[in-house]
Amino acid sequence: MADTARINAVVSDIVEGIRAAMFKHNVTYDEYQIAQSFLLDAFAKKDIPLLLTTFFNTTIVKIEGKMMGGSKPSLEGPYFIEDSPLIPQDGELAAREQDQGRMKALLRGRVTDLDGKPLAGATINIWHSTPDGRYSGFHDGIAPHYHRGRIITDADGRYSVRTIMPTPYQIPSDGPTGALLTAMGRHTWRPAHFHYKITALGMHTHISQAYFEGGDYVDDDCCEDVCAEHVVAEKTDDGVRIVEVDFVIPEAVTQALAA
Ligand SMILES: [Fe+2]
Repeated sequence: MADTARINAVVSDIVEGIRAAMFKHNVTYDEYQIAQSFLLDAFAKKDIPLLLTTFFNTTIVKIEGKMMGGSKPSLEGPYFIEDSPLIPQDGELAAREQDQGRMKALLRGRVTDLDGKPLAGATINIWHSTPDGRYSGFHDGIAPHYHRGRIITDADGRYSVRTIMPTPYQIPSDGPTGALLTAMGRHTWRPAHFHYKITALGMHTHISQAYFEGGDYVDDDCCEDVCAEHVVAEKTDDGVRIVEVDFVIPEAVTQALAA
């Protein structure tokens, strides 16, 4: 059932925020009409999800992280696929022939609950871009088993899997959202990253990304998702980039978000 008081409070504050920005910048009627045309164009070209993801998904993620506790979450992005290949501990994500020469990465860490108890049997989905910034199952006809997989944590909550290093890539830049970012003097690049999605029985689904210290666009992500906790310090072992990330996962208590 709709919570009229909450809807009124949230929408009224959003409207007030927009009005305050309009007053602050003395927005003209011409600009108001341009904004209206922009929104109609974004809707017609099905660009609204990208527009919202670019500007507001990270905000929702921050709110969720604040309410739930545990490790800070990230936005999921549009390139997750269910039922990706099951990878054994210390296994390796499939890479295309032409990607074999890329720098290797070892992703490892531990999954625990808020009390530090290991979460055995948790499923960690890991996915990332190709070295040319594309995603399997979505771009260029790349078969969906490449550069993605699921790994099950061991009795101590640990995971370990090898893959290749991803690269920075551009979000779709030829639509209204890209045009808006360009008009704002901003770019459409995301820093290189790994995606994680962790599920465990009775636990909140945790979604995260790992970025790389010193990487391009780490300090200037077009989606503004990067936070210090998600930037992995530069560390290599015998030419392999070590990406050590632990996850602290809260229980799935939906009421917490309504408190
Ligand atoms: Fe991504």
